[in-house]
Amino acid sequence: MDYDLEIAKSQDNDYLMANYARLPVLFVRGHGTRLWDDTGKEYVDFVSGLGACVAGHCHPEIIAGIVRQASQLIHVSNLYYNRPQGELAEMLVRFTFADKIFFCNSGTEAIEAGLKLARKYMRTVRGEERYIIVSALRSFHGRGYGAMAATGQPEKSKLFGPMPEGFIHVPFNDLSALEESVSDDTCAVLLEPIQGEGGVYVADPGYLKGARELCREKGALLILDEVQSGMGRTGALFAHEHYGISPDMMTIAKGLAGGVPIGALLATAEVAKGFIPGDYGTTFGGNPLVCSAALATMIVLREEQLVENAARVGTYFKEKLEALQQSTGAIAEVRGIGLMLAAELKRDDAREIVERCLERGYVVNNIGPTILRFLPPLSISTREVDELLATLEELLSGGIV
Ligand SMILES: Cc1ncc(COP(=O)(O)O)c(C=O)c1O
Repeated sequence: MDYDLEIAKSQDNDYLMANYARLPVLFVRGHGTRLWDDTGKEYVDFVSGLGACVAGHCHPEIIAGIVRQASQLIHVSNLYYNRPQGELAEMLVRFTFADKIFFCNSGTEAIEAGLKLARKYMRTVRGEERYIIVSALRSFHGRGYGAMAATGQPEKSKLFGPMPEGFIHVPFNDLSALEESVSDDTCAVLLEPIQGEGGVYVADPGYLKGARELCREKGALLILDEVQSGMGRTGALFAHEHYGISPDMMTIAKGLAGGVPIGALLATAEVAKGFIPGDYGTTFGGNPLVCSAALATMIVLREEQLVENAARVGTYFKEKLEALQQSTGAIAEVRGIGLMLAAELKRDDAREIVERCLERGYVVNNIGPTILRFLPPLSISTREVDELLATLEELLSGGIV
């Protein structure tokens, strides 16, 4: 018997922990902006593996990079030198504020590394006992203990205590609240330029600039979490470029290797002095296979001008969502930059809308009951946006479904 959705559901039920509330679809193939399920039905993907498949699915150049490396050397560990890792680090340094890179396997791990480096740097390089991390309410930084402590959504950690100490949360986009909280005891301020999982809330220009200034003034580090907003998603390689500032550290993951698991912490040379051998490491972090996928992804982003496409199509998409807001009256607010967009509904059936979209061949995401989120591959076209918008118009005008 062929493998199908029913078998997948039954295995999920029998053998997998119940961490995920899955939608009823089994994707078996992807190409570009398209996915296919086990019945052969085609979908346009506006989620791209939660923002990871920035160059679309199964891009031939990324496949070639993976296959070439897989047939030569998949893994050796960080006990030894590794050419793709060195080359990827050099490329990231060339395109960012950073001088030094640490590779790991996920956004969460990049955050853990950033928190550890911030505290260690303060103690050993600066000789200062300051360990308080200030982050924003409604933020999301991952689900490990450090990342969860930094995440400004208390409901996500309330049954997992005791939590690590030394974390303070302040309202996002409120510079006065930040000024009141950052003191000579602050080790670092950790912010997403655009809060992703919290509902796609964009930092005001003055807020990030003000946070940068404040950190400089108080001697605290500024860590930007660009796990979701990075790798071209907002129409700049990294979202902070829109703000004309640069951080002391940045975390990235998701799109970096086009859908293969990777995370990275980027830092200035000064801050990177805090890590010495043994401070942090991971078996797989930056292994030859994933770094080859990431190198290929970076090349595709550049050669196919996907960051520029994200800016162009993202502007068009947002305007279309705003027009839908006018025409249906069902949308309270449209938020986001580039291809990191959300529509906050006046109604609470976002999950049902996601399900109806799936039935009609469109993969979109909801955050809670009121927010529709769009994180398509950066190669999405205005025509595909038009098609989705026609479907959304039908669903949102109809009072559903
Ligand atoms: C801003 C941000 N930071 C960290 C994470 C955690 O990344 P990961 O799921 O790769 O551990 C996410 C995941 O959505 C994120 O959006």
